[in-house]
Amino acid sequence: MNEKNASIFGLGILEGTSAFVTGGGTGIGFGIAKTLGALGANVTIASRRQEVLDKACAELSEAGVRALGIVCDVRDHGSVKRAVDQSVEKFGGLDILVNNAAGNFACPTEDLSPNGWRTVVDIDLNGTFNCCHAAFPHLSKSPHVGRIVSIITAYAWGGWPGCAPAAAAKAGIQSLMRTLAIEWAPKNIISNTVAPGPIADTEGTKRIHEDTDRAAAELARVPVGRFGEVEEIAAAVAYLVSPAARYVNGTDLVVDGGRQFKATPRPDAK
Ligand code: COA
Repeated sequence: MNEKNASIFGLGILEGTSAFVTGGGTGIGFGIAKTLGALGANVTIASRRQEVLDKACAELSEAGVRALGIVCDVRDHGSVKRAVDQSVEKFGGLDILVNNAAGNFACPTEDLSPNGWRTVVDIDLNGTFNCCHAAFPHLSKSPHVGRIVSIITAYAWGGWPGCAPAAAAKAGIQSLMRTLAIEWAPKNIISNTVAPGPIADTEGTKRIHEDTDRAAAELARVPVGRFGEVEEIAAAVAYLVSPAARYVNGTDLVVDGGRQFKATPRPDAK
């Protein structure tokens, strides 16, 4: 956890809780895992590659976090259920689910193959359902009020030229979170989203803005004049899973420096 975050959160506020973070081995997911761990949570990180998990878990352990890495493909409900059950067995329960795993690539919609569309929607939207569904029996028993936080993007409602499957899938996740906010709150689970803008040093920003030569154009649309930091997204998640946010349910916490209010131009605009 960086100094700015430590200045607002009490270090033990998540003591006694367990969190499950998908895509938790790298980028924003790893930042979330580190922050929740620093606040006292036991953390399970799930991702597809063992070597990524090994490196991330070693770093978490070195920082004093009780961490478990589990190979899991969120597209496969059986794989997700096994991972959640293993996490519960190790840590004795589950209080926090962070749906962070995502796939994305830039491709004009007319050039997208049906399988390309399906792959992104499967990881983002179906993967989020699989995780929520597998986590439900455990989150509903949490003495801390079970929390679901799904990572989406403001492009879900603003449109995302060149990334249609991700935009549509994230809009689907937003809708799913609103439904669960109503359906599962009486069952002891509250559900929210965090919507990051462009975040520096992440795979998403590299693929979508840097590799397509649009980083400067994207930066010009961020009113605060810079890309965000991983820790700034982790801080938003930390708030939503903290005791302070027990009455926050079904909302979108947009952390994008005001980017959502500047429309994305047509891809051919200079
Ligand atoms: N442009 C067009 N189509 C692409 C593509 C690209 N850059 N990358 C993948 N696809 C298509 C493939 O061609 C394939 O379709 P096809 O069978 O019709 O050819 C389909 O997507 C699936 O690709 P595949 O490589 O088999 O899928 P995968 O499961 O191995 O990978 C991705 C999933 C493609 C989403 C991969 O980029 C990924 O997992 N990324 C995770 C990291 C990430 O994107 N992070 C940032 C999130 S913002």
